[in-house]
Amino acid sequence: MFLNPFNPNYPADIRYFANRKRELAWFEEGVIPSLHPSSSGPWNIAILGPWGIGKTSLANRFMHSCRQAPFDIFPVFISCSRGYDSLYGFFSMLVSFVADELSKHKGWSEKAMEQLRDWQLSIHALGLTVTKRQRPDMATAGAADILRRQLRDLWERFLADRECGILLILDDAHLLLSLDKQAFLILRAVIQDLHLLGARYGLVITGPSELFEDIRLESEPVVRFFNKMNLKPFDREDLADAIRYPVERVQAGITIPDETLDWIQSKTNGHPYFVTFIMRVMLMNAHSERRVNLDVSYCESKWPEILRLIYAERFDVDWSSVPPGERMILRQIAAAAPGDCPAKDVQNSGLLSRLVQKNLVIRKGRGMYTLYHPLFGEYIQQVDFED
Ligand SMILES: Nc1ncnc2c1ncn2[C@@H]1O[C@H](COP(=O)(O)OP(=O)(O)OP(=O)(O)O)[C@@H](O)[C@H]1O
Ligand SMILES: [Mg+2]
Repeated sequence: MFLNPFNPNYPADIRYFANRKRELAWFEEGVIPSLHPSSSGPWNIAILGPWGIGKTSLANRFMHSCRQAPFDIFPVFISCSRGYDSLYGFFSMLVSFVADELSKHKGWSEKAMEQLRDWQLSIHALGLTVTKRQRPDMATAGAADILRRQLRDLWERFLADRECGILLILDDAHLLLSLDKQAFLILRAVIQDLHLLGARYGLVITGPSELFEDIRLESEPVVRFFNKMNLKPFDREDLADAIRYPVERVQAGITIPDETLDWIQSKTNGHPYFVTFIMRVMLMNAHSERRVNLDVSYCESKWPEILRLIYAERFDVDWSSVPPGERMILRQIAAAAPGDCPAKDVQNSGLLSRLVQKNLVIRKGRGMYTLYHPLFGEYIQQVDFED
């Protein structure tokens, strides 16, 4: 059976993750030691970047580094969602995830394990009570209180005399703002209070590039609380690792020459989603046609098919989600050479912000905008023609 290691619909599988070496070195040399009880306090990180750039994949890779650390670090990963009724509901779920992570640890005594189980039951019950009563209006203070009290309680009962730390990883943390505008202020206050009590809780969040622009207006201290990691598309070295390592790992027996890597870089600009998308199709074809060498001419022969798939799976959906007024703006940006468009050339800036929120347009600073990927520009020019 042939296992294709590329899947653009999920974050990168930890077994095939082979790049982002600079970010990993920073995490392993800076953040991990900062979670040790005798450090001066955890470094909190915000992984920021546009759609599909690899935020969740990297956050998930950080979990793996935590598990390899020279002392116990308990990483707790939670995807944020508007689906939680309230910030209170989200925080009670987060606390129960922490307890679940602790309970996986092998080193507890029988008595501690029993206490942890009781504790988990009481927290699950708290979460259920909130859901059942449907109290989306549960006060912000109540949310802060449950987080602070329960995390402190957990620490004091189970962890205070151990050499360990906890890392809370909140993926898509910007979604918490739609539960409560104070969400980040509370997180900062609670984590800071816990630090002063000697409890080691570090924080990693992921979110869009503009996250702190929106928060700065309301709360500057929150901005300072995080070290920012702005994720960029793969450079040539990252691209080579992301492509060659998984192919070798599944022993596909397929060679990928340097020129092919250049070719993929030129088609994708190193955007992880499109790299993964292309590689999935390319490898599937090469395997069924028994190719042992993915040379550029072979890739060129497959390009029309790949483009058709990208259009169908990605751009048709993007395009159908925008009303005519926003399509006009997308066309204007697609037509601007070399793809960057000053805001003043676009007639309706309200619609422009909506397109940024929909991840179709990227704000490049100094009033310049661009489409989220040049291939989307090519697509727009072609539907423009057909319309
Ligand atoms: N370091 C990496 N190595 C290999 N593939 C990667 C890497 N980073 C991302 N990818 C691939 O790129 C795609 C997008 O990654 P991911 O879901 O992590 O991005 P994201 O920034 O979290 O996206 P979103 O904004 O939708 O949350 C996935 O298919 C993933 O497999
Ligand atoms: Mg993500």
